[in-house]
Amino acid sequence: MLMALEPLRAVLLMGAGPEIQVRFMANTILIGAQWGDEGKGKIIDVITTEHQWVVRYQGGNNAGHTVEIGDQRYVLHLLPSGILREGCSCVIGNGVVVDPAALKKEIDEVEAQGISTKDRLFVSDRAHVIMPYHRLIDEYREGRAAIKDKIGTTKRGIGPTYADKAARVGLRMGDLIDASFPNQLRKRIHENNRILEALNAPTLDAEEVLEQYQAWATSLQPYIVDTVTLLNEADRKGESILFEGAQGVMLDIDFGTYPFVTSSNATAGGACTGSGVPPHRIERVIGVVKAYTTRVGEGPFPTELHDATGMELAKVGNEFGSTTGRPRRCGWFDAVVARYSAVVNGIDFWALTKMDVLDNQPVIRIAVAYECAGRTYRDMPASVGVLEACRPVYEEMPGWMTPTTHIQRFEDLPEPARAYLTRLEEITGVRVGIVSVGPQRDSTFIIEDVYATRS
Ligand code: IMP
Repeated sequence: MLMALEPLRAVLLMGAGPEIQVRFMANTILIGAQWGDEGKGKIIDVITTEHQWVVRYQGGNNAGHTVEIGDQRYVLHLLPSGILREGCSCVIGNGVVVDPAALKKEIDEVEAQGISTKDRLFVSDRAHVIMPYHRLIDEYREGRAAIKDKIGTTKRGIGPTYADKAARVGLRMGDLIDASFPNQLRKRIHENNRILEALNAPTLDAEEVLEQYQAWATSLQPYIVDTVTLLNEADRKGESILFEGAQGVMLDIDFGTYPFVTSSNATAGGACTGSGVPPHRIERVIGVVKAYTTRVGEGPFPTELHDATGMELAKVGNEFGSTTGRPRRCGWFDAVVARYSAVVNGIDFWALTKMDVLDNQPVIRIAVAYECAGRTYRDMPASVGVLEACRPVYEEMPGWMTPTTHIQRFEDLPEPARAYLTRLEEITGVRVGIVSVGPQRDSTFIIEDVYATRS
């Protein structure tokens, strides 16, 4: 139930002069504000009704967005969540790395469920292609790394593909359908076979890979276009765009817990570089946070719980990675992370998910600072060493101990739950605009007046 969208429309319509295109909803970036898996897919699906375009701008099939509609459950890795909404056009932008096999499989899967991708899915000709040597390098490098150096990657070849992009030896979707592709590919395989040998990984037969990739190129060709022009034209016509972040701020290559991060900019800035839509066309940033915190893979996680409460959050929250199936590490809400996310992304309001997972917790904790070697950190330290050694400083609040999944309005939440949301707003300096209390599309509500937060 999305009650508060009408006031937003009114505001925009009143503000629109005769020469200004009427836009139903502002161009919006939606990002994960923790370590990924915040439930972005569900929130995107809910607010997509107001947007004509949904754009993925970074990452690849390392992401996993789960959306439940009725009794159907969709797990999307590469396709923008907007694909599930009829009439919504979807773009895989230049900042994404594309595994053609994964893309083809996902297109076939949604088509088999009756969802058409024809003339509504567009893949940037500038997006880089994940090749089999990228996947092998990812897998074997991780496999050989000492325990303390393992990143815990999804082994989808994401890091090596971005590394080749930066080294200017990558192949792009546009190359895939170009006559020069066979020779480019042979050259790349020749060079990468040496790297694979050094890693004790199997080497590749260039002609076999070529045959496979040419088959995928043939079926994907209709989708490969200049998405920069497409998106900017849509924007000029007044159609609104939702930029769908993958992973989360703490996995961002620049701002995350480096080196335990992914290889792209999961923060709001990545939406512009990853799509070709300029910064001044972005009008709103929504940060998705879970009511607690989770992390998959290795790396520091200050509020991680190694006790029965952590196990209960994992069980009740069904915290298993939708891409790799790995169990997620669980812990309390970390307001140091959330404040940092708010600053780095310019977050206008939070979409807070999985509130209902806390329904049975008698006491709820919020980390407001870290302490390490006699020093208190209120802002996010860059050092992984500090993050690993620090102790969170907690505030405690009483839990509400009652089910919330049926609730559709902020006012109907139990008093301790309202107090928890209010306290999160105070500590992070950002309003909670959307609350999700269950996995279904309709167990989400928008708090009144949230759109008035930006002048
Ligand atoms: P990569 O993106 O496969 O290179 O993995 C790098 C790190 O990011 C690992 O810790 C992964 O578990 C994590 N990661 C990548 N994608 C996601 C995601 O969608 N959600 C949560 N963690 C992710």
